[in-house]
Amino acid sequence: MPPLVAPSILAADFARLGEQVRQAEEAGANRIHVDVMDGHFVPNISIGPLVVQALKPVTKLRLETHLMISNPDQYLDAFAAAGSTSLQVHWEGNLHVHRTIQRIRAMGLGAGIVINPATPASVLQEILPDVNIVLVMTVNPGFGGQKFITSTLDKIKRVREMIDRHNPTCELEVDGGIDAHTAPLAFAAGATVFVAGSSVFGHPQGIAAGIKAIQESA
Ligand code: DX5
Ligand code: ZN
Repeated sequence: MPPLVAPSILAADFARLGEQVRQAEEAGANRIHVDVMDGHFVPNISIGPLVVQALKPVTKLRLETHLMISNPDQYLDAFAAAGSTSLQVHWEGNLHVHRTIQRIRAMGLGAGIVINPATPASVLQEILPDVNIVLVMTVNPGFGGQKFITSTLDKIKRVREMIDRHNPTCELEVDGGIDAHTAPLAFAAGATVFVAGSSVFGHPQGIAAGIKAIQESA
């Protein structure tokens, strides 16, 4: 399986967002990763449903929406209405994440569970059969441009084993500090989908070169 690349628009030029997403699609991006931050769950504020809605007519790619927000349940409907194709919610800080995942599935959207670097793979065990994607954070969420945390590689391997055993069609995605150097490490550990912000939108030779570098490195 070739690596799937999900450019994170957090690193895009917001004054030219539509154009940059179009460029990413033309360059072979497999989906668009939308980072939603509320200044509470993470110490940064980014974007909300309006931006998803604005991008919907711009691209045919899936808009996977990574919710780094407190009380995600309150916003699921708004993102679904805006055009998100999958919603990814954190295990951390959600006492009823099973219910959240079931609600996302009931809306007909892809359901993803996300775990932070300090969260063990073992918390996934009960929810794994219910999700379409596991997202292992390879940085602490909140900011783009951070350094890949190498100690997450062993966890990616453990998650890969769990997926193969309990839900083989589930995707395994990594997010944070992914570039042509770190993607091969995560790929070897079993990741299949690669979120990349800075290394795509900030690539010195442009967006297409950034996507190609990740695809070829893995
Ligand atoms: C981090 C976000 C990431 C981030 C990745 O909180 O979830 O998606 O945008 O950015 P880079 O690729 O720059 O580490
Ligand atoms: Zn993300």
